[in-house]
Amino acid sequence: MKIDGVPYRTIWPAADGRTVEIIDQRHLPHAFVVARLETVDEAARAIREMWVRGAPLIGATAAYGLALALRADPADASLASAYERLFATRPTAVNLRWALDRMRAVLAPLPPASRAGRAWAEAAAIADEDVAICRAIGGNGAALIRDVAARRGPGAVVNVLTHCNAGWLATVDWGTALAPIYVAHEEGIAVHVWVDETRPRNQGASITAWELGRHGVPHTVVVDNVGGHLMQHGRVDLCIVGTDRTTATGDVCNKIGTYLKALAAHDNGVPFYVALPSPTIDWTVEDGVREIPIEERDPAEVTALTGRTADGRIETVTLTPDGSPAANWAFDVTPARLVTGLVTERGVCPASREGLRSLFPEASAQAAQ
Ligand code: MRU
Repeated sequence: MKIDGVPYRTIWPAADGRTVEIIDQRHLPHAFVVARLETVDEAARAIREMWVRGAPLIGATAAYGLALALRADPADASLASAYERLFATRPTAVNLRWALDRMRAVLAPLPPASRAGRAWAEAAAIADEDVAICRAIGGNGAALIRDVAARRGPGAVVNVLTHCNAGWLATVDWGTALAPIYVAHEEGIAVHVWVDETRPRNQGASITAWELGRHGVPHTVVVDNVGGHLMQHGRVDLCIVGTDRTTATGDVCNKIGTYLKALAAHDNGVPFYVALPSPTIDWTVEDGVREIPIEERDPAEVTALTGRTADGRIETVTLTPDGSPAANWAFDVTPARLVTGLVTERGVCPASREGLRSLFPEASAQAAQ
C-alpha cells in the first residue's frame, strides 16, 4: 500500500542484499520509522517486542530471521537454534510455526553451503505469497461489502466494524480484515470503518486508524466498549476481524475483546466475518478455547499509556493506583458458532470443519493422516 504516494511493504530485503528492513510499528502513528534487522537475535527481538506484529507479518519476519541466521552460520546447529529462538518469541499466532516449519523443511536437507541463498529465496517467496493471498482475501471479502451496498441502495454508506489491526501493517501487504475494505474503497463503494481502539496496546487507535487515514478510507475510532451500542442502533452493517489462529473446526483466536464483539454481533443479527490466510489455520487444533496458547504480556501495558503531548513529546503515563495488580491476556477465542463466515484466499466458507475442508481439501486430508 502507499504512504504519501510511495508504495511500501512492511518488510523487505535491504539494498545491501544481506539484511532486512521493516517498518518499526512501535512508533506509529506519531512517527514513521524504518529499522534494519541484521541478525536472528534482532529479528527475534522485533517480533517479541512488537516492532512488527500481526500473524502473517510475524511469520514472514521469522522466515527472514532464519535466513539471517544461516547467512551468519549455515550449520545444522545454527538452523536448530535459530528455529528455537524465533519460535519462542510469541505463542499464539500459528503463522510463526508455519513459516519456521516451511523454512526448515526446505533447508535441512540441503548441504550447509547452499542453505543461505535458498533461505533468502524461500523467505522472499513466503512474503510474496502473503501479498497474493491477502489480495485474494480482499477480492473475496469485497463481495460481502458490495452485497450490503447493493441492498442499501445508492448513496448508502456501508459501516464495517473492525478490531485490532488486521490491515496491511499486520501482513506483508494488503491485510486480512482490511483488504476487503481497501478493495471496496477502490471500487468506489462508500465504506466507513468503526475502529476499535483495542486496549491495551491500541493497535486500532494507533495503527488501523493511521493506515486507513493514509489510504483515504473514512473511519472513526471508538473505545472498545462502544461496539454493542452501535450494533443495537443499526450503525454496523458487518464486522470483519482477523485471526491469529483458526482451528480445524472454525474457532478463531484473535486480539483480546474479539469474542465480546462477536457476542454483541450475534445478539443483534450483525454478520461477523473473520478474514484469514490459510497459513493461519492450525489443522492440529480442534477446540480453540482449550487448546490454543494465549499470550500473557507485561501488565505494564495495562497500567500505563504512551502518547504524544501537545508540544510533540512522546510520554508514558501511569493510569492505575500504585500497587494495584494488573493482568494482560492478549488474545481470546471466538467459537465457530458465533462466526458468520471465514473469508480466505480461496473464497468464503462457513466456520466449520466442513466449510474449511471444502476450500482446503488437501491440507485437511494431510492433517488427518
Ligand atoms: O498482538 P498483535 O498486534 O500481533 O495482534 C494482531 C491481531 O490480533 C490481528 O488481528 C491478527 O494477527 C490478524 S492480522 C492479519
